[in-house]
Amino acid sequence: MTAMTDKPLLQVLSGQTLARPPVWLMRQAGRYLPEYRAVRAQQPDFIAFCLNPEAACEVTMQPIRRYGFDAAIVFADILLLPYGLGQKVWFEAGEGPKLDPITLSDLGRLSQERARDVLSPVCDTLTRLRAALPAETTLIGFAGSPWTVATYMIEGGGSKDRFKARAMAWNDPAGFDALMDLLADATISYLADQVKAGADVVKLFDSWADSLPDPLFDRVVIRPTKRIVDGLRAQGITAPVIGFPRGAGPQAVRYAAQTGVTALALDHGMDTQWAASALPKTLPIQGQLDPAVLHAGGAALDREVDRLLSAWAGRPYVFNLGHGINLETPPDNVTRLMARLRQG
Ligand code: CP3
Repeated sequence: MTAMTDKPLLQVLSGQTLARPPVWLMRQAGRYLPEYRAVRAQQPDFIAFCLNPEAACEVTMQPIRRYGFDAAIVFADILLLPYGLGQKVWFEAGEGPKLDPITLSDLGRLSQERARDVLSPVCDTLTRLRAALPAETTLIGFAGSPWTVATYMIEGGGSKDRFKARAMAWNDPAGFDALMDLLADATISYLADQVKAGADVVKLFDSWADSLPDPLFDRVVIRPTKRIVDGLRAQGITAPVIGFPRGAGPQAVRYAAQTGVTALALDHGMDTQWAASALPKTLPIQGQLDPAVLHAGGAALDREVDRLLSAWAGRPYVFNLGHGINLETPPDNVTRLMARLRQG
């Protein structure tokens, strides 16, 4: 990427090292903010909320106004894709997502054309954001990775160890690969539309990439992720892709080398010293602050911020959490984090 940019996050994703790393937080729009809760109270149906460009644009902007993060991530959800494909998806208060579970014989009923249509309001939100954001703020689009999305589709919601999904992948490799391909292809079209609507960067959330034996990791994480990156590039989409294979451990090295992602988001459980030596020095890295230390705040937070800044100093690094912000995090702790990052 040779284009000049004034956006610090894009500079880092193009391989530059900045003395003060850009910062944004996973799930930065959400229930820890009173202004989010006020909008949410008017939007009882979470999916309708995500598909309401005016409301979604407003809550995406809230953390930007409050903290001045270097990036805004469009307010949406990874489970909009199965919803768009035609699966029944709903959110019950306090219980998280619920889906009417599918089997591999249901694939014929999932429609990529329908998904494109149903998800078009997310693109409208991005277009509004493009106009509303400060010029230096990067706009991030996203999708779930096929494996993580499939675990919800198969299990019917969140699950302790994704046993049913793993068993299905071992039991019917060809059928499961077809599901991965279908989800990857729908994701390519969804992310390409997001970039055309104004996203500067896209992120792939593989939140359940942990606890997979090597052959499954290669089949359900690496192969579909590579298919998405290759598919975007084949359409002429040059936007950076941030991959987040949460919990991948040492498998993240193979993920970084083989998928073609531009940058790697690391969780807080990844050994920092090891990762810094095992991953290429030119690969942009994002993340690692424990959401629990942000929740705790105080001197422990300052020390963790300093540890990460020094561990990743001298390489392209984006400050972020290792997973989404906890909903009980005091908003003032985020103010403290920003002050620490911007000092000096
Ligand atoms: O600010 C942002 O980061 C953008 C919006 C965003 C949401 N979900 C909004 C949301 C993003 C990037 C996501 C990603 C997402 N959604 C992931 C991957 C990241 C991760 O955390 O691992 C996953 C696994 C989901 C699925 C999902 N959506 C779950 C499990 C839940 C329930 C848990 C919870 O936090 O309530 C959701 C709901 C959800 N998505 C909320 C938000 C703000 C809370 C809904 C509410 O307001 O009641």
